[in-house]
Amino acid sequence: MKNPYKKPISGQIIQIGPETGQDQIIFATETSCDETAAAVILNGRNVLSNVVASQIDIHRKYGGVIPEVAARRHLETINVVIEEARAQAGIDMKDVAAFAGTVGPGLVGALLVGLNAAKSLSLVYDTPFIGVNHLNAHVCANYLESGFEPPFICLLISGGHTQLIKVDSYSEQQLLGETLDDAVGEAYDKVARLLDLPYPGGPYLDKLAQEGDKGKFNFPEAKVAEFDFSFSGLKTAVLRTCKNYTGEDLPKPDIAASFQEVVSETLLKKTLKAARQFNINKIALAGGVAANSEVRRKFFAQTDKGVAVNAPEFRFCTDNAAMIASAAYFSSNVMSELDIEVFSRVK
Ligand code: KG4
Ligand code: ZN
Repeated sequence: MKNPYKKPISGQIIQIGPETGQDQIIFATETSCDETAAAVILNGRNVLSNVVASQIDIHRKYGGVIPEVAARRHLETINVVIEEARAQAGIDMKDVAAFAGTVGPGLVGALLVGLNAAKSLSLVYDTPFIGVNHLNAHVCANYLESGFEPPFICLLISGGHTQLIKVDSYSEQQLLGETLDDAVGEAYDKVARLLDLPYPGGPYLDKLAQEGDKGKFNFPEAKVAEFDFSFSGLKTAVLRTCKNYTGEDLPKPDIAASFQEVVSETLLKKTLKAARQFNINKIALAGGVAANSEVRRKFFAQTDKGVAVNAPEFRFCTDNAAMIASAAYFSSNVMSELDIEVFSRVK
């Protein structure tokens, strides 16, 4: 059972979550990196609105996210995005059971904007505030517009993190392993840069790989402890291969396809190994790289072998506020004090 939540002004105690048996609307914000997002969710799963204002065009010319620019842009956009999410859902703010926001990990200045907006709404409407961990929210994206339920093994692959998680129930999970160096999304973006693709490179590399020969280059798979990952050696191997060409003759599609092949193979192999070891015949993807076509293809092919497979819809893989609302509703791993501080790294 989750902790009861308090209305910040009146102090009235309220329960939030499936065990209440009541219809509950959660309003959430998310500003941990370069997306300004707000969403309205009913009962943790039904998405009434999901508004995302991307800053990618601003950061593209720098080849990466500039934290101060991101924070300033969030500040300019957040009120419009919040009102749009409310209007699209057709709700009154008085109908909201709790306001949620991302506490971390992420860029501190960026996080502050969305989190303080959620806290302010909580005070204005005397409605409980729920602070959410961004990584936990990526996992909960699997519940959006679906009936998917724990227990399952979740592979979380985003721009900043790579984790293999055993999700025992909505409130209990265990970290089985993680990357020792680069995150999968980071490796995609770095290799994409070597191939002169625009930022963020993951989706462009994914597309380019579809024209290439995945058997052309035999890039190495890192040998690390059973549920951990490492991608920096692979990135260096790609760099070395690129240096063998003058530039003009660089076989970009073949490099992209060969890189994607070794990454997706490793990810699937480790996830299946965890599923077998813990006797959980259900696997799920989460995070921005869960949008990758080859990773999805390899994972969903397992359904033919009797494994239950789930992945969030594309719009719920990359950063969004719907997943924050779902985590606020389902998870007990949340922070409900109004004086909670943002944090930049995994705790
Ligand atoms: O989860 P996310 O939106 O942000 C973080 O919390 O990090 O993930 C963003 C990452 C970026 O590295 C982006 O290149 C990658 O997800 N990505 C992809 C694809 N779509 C997004 N990587 C590979 N293939 C894709 N289709
Ligand atoms: Zn994310």
